Amino acid sequence: RVAGPCVLVLFGVTGDLSRKKLLPAIYDLANRGLLPPGFSLVGFARRDWEHQDFRQLAHDAVKEHARTPFREDVWNQLAEGIHFVPGTFDDPGAFEALAMAVKELDEQRGTGGNYAFYLSIPPKFFQEVVQQLQASGLSQPSEGSWRRVVIEKPFGHDLASAQELNAILHEVFPEESIFRIDHYLGKETVQNILALRFANNLFEPIWNRSYVDHVQITMAEDIGIGGRAGYFDGVGTARDVIQNHLLQLLALTAMEEPVSFAAESVRAEKAKVLSAVRLPKDLGANTVRGQYSAGWQGGVKVRGYHEEEGIPPNSRTDTYAAVRVDVDTRRWAGVPFYLRTGKRLARRATEVALVFQRAPHLPFAATDTEELGQNALVIRVQPDEGVTMRFGSKVPGTSMEVRDVNMDFDYGESFTESSPEAYERLLLDVLIGDPPLFPRQEEVELSWEILDPIEEYWDKHGKPELYKAGSWGPKAADEMMARDGRAWRRL
Ligand code: BG6
Repeated sequence: RVAGPCVLVLFGVTGDLSRKKLLPAIYDLANRGLLPPGFSLVGFARRDWEHQDFRQLAHDAVKEHARTPFREDVWNQLAEGIHFVPGTFDDPGAFEALAMAVKELDEQRGTGGNYAFYLSIPPKFFQEVVQQLQASGLSQPSEGSWRRVVIEKPFGHDLASAQELNAILHEVFPEESIFRIDHYLGKETVQNILALRFANNLFEPIWNRSYVDHVQITMAEDIGIGGRAGYFDGVGTARDVIQNHLLQLLALTAMEEPVSFAAESVRAEKAKVLSAVRLPKDLGANTVRGQYSAGWQGGVKVRGYHEEEGIPPNSRTDTYAAVRVDVDTRRWAGVPFYLRTGKRLARRATEVALVFQRAPHLPFAATDTEELGQNALVIRVQPDEGVTMRFGSKVPGTSMEVRDVNMDFDYGESFTESSPEAYERLLLDVLIGDPPLFPRQEEVELSWEILDPIEEYWDKHGKPELYKAGSWGPKAADEMMARDGRAWRRL
């Protein structure tokens, strides 16, 4: 799979995402030989820059963050196609200059009128930029060419604003030309959920309510909000990652087998699951939100959320969220899905764990089995990417004592191929025009439908419970599980 001739136009080139992820990913794609020779990259920003300045920024970003080794020849070839157009989003003249620039590239480098516009900018500018793309003629493909727009989350703040955003985009671009990035879908381990389930016969027969007791989806981060107060405060972790990453993980875990791996089939199955998600009636007992206070992490004292720069002293923004939902389908009736995520937790780990029902009968003395837990199948999304099966095994010795053990599959040990970074995969798919890994409008809106009532409930009731940085979150989250006779997995 190699991209055909095209220009990638990047808005927001000076942002963090562009420097840390996008520019390095473009270089890595070039290094792996996945970009066509005439591939061109055009940066657009409010800077008084020449092409050379942008090349320098890209060069430094690549040197610092690329995954693959730096090769002078690859860089030089890529750099030849790197251009810069200065301008502001409200200036029609700048978009005309952009239109001229890409046209020239078509002539000089054979990019064929194929343009992808990557909006790595705050959503409040989306409308203005897509309208300028339309007014300057850039959004309309000429005969035989394509135009695509790529947007980053947040896709709105709630259902109403997400619908509004979709309407704005649809005025200019048809749905099939809109690529919404949820970078979790670009992760190898996330894509592997479908391979594990549907390329094997081992797991699918037990992947249902007859064997699974409950599912736990965890995205734990050790980092705080860093310098992102402006984005994060007032948004909170539920909107930041449950609405997208965690609900996408749930959808992939719970969906039925798609007819094929074509985008429409996969997305249709995911949408079915998301529409079958039911919130508990008692949101007070089945949701938890928390906020980190000062604590210790890895031997270092770290600040509480309220002490972070730019956070108002009365902020009630959640930095931890846990939610129980049900999936009302034949496969999952009665099987709760527990989702949890938080910043400044004890360690970084994302996983999907299917926790199985206990064996119906144990022919061992009770004392021998006290320690015996439940079988689990764990997809380790990151770090330590892989899959773990947890089951009871006889402890060597003269008595029949059984203890839980792990059987691990590790990517690093089983494959010599290195995983592309999520953005590398997703950028390549944009340039090729391959949509299965991008959530469509319906999924985004269904996810907000799930989250909106929770946010509304939280708005009206109390405030987040404090938890110490470096801990596993608020006590209420353990109590929520305990009331159901369950416990969070220890990570
Ligand atoms: C982003 C969130 O989508 O995902 C961040 O906005 C979060 O708050 C990040 O830190 C985590 O991504 P990853 O790939 O490091 O798990």
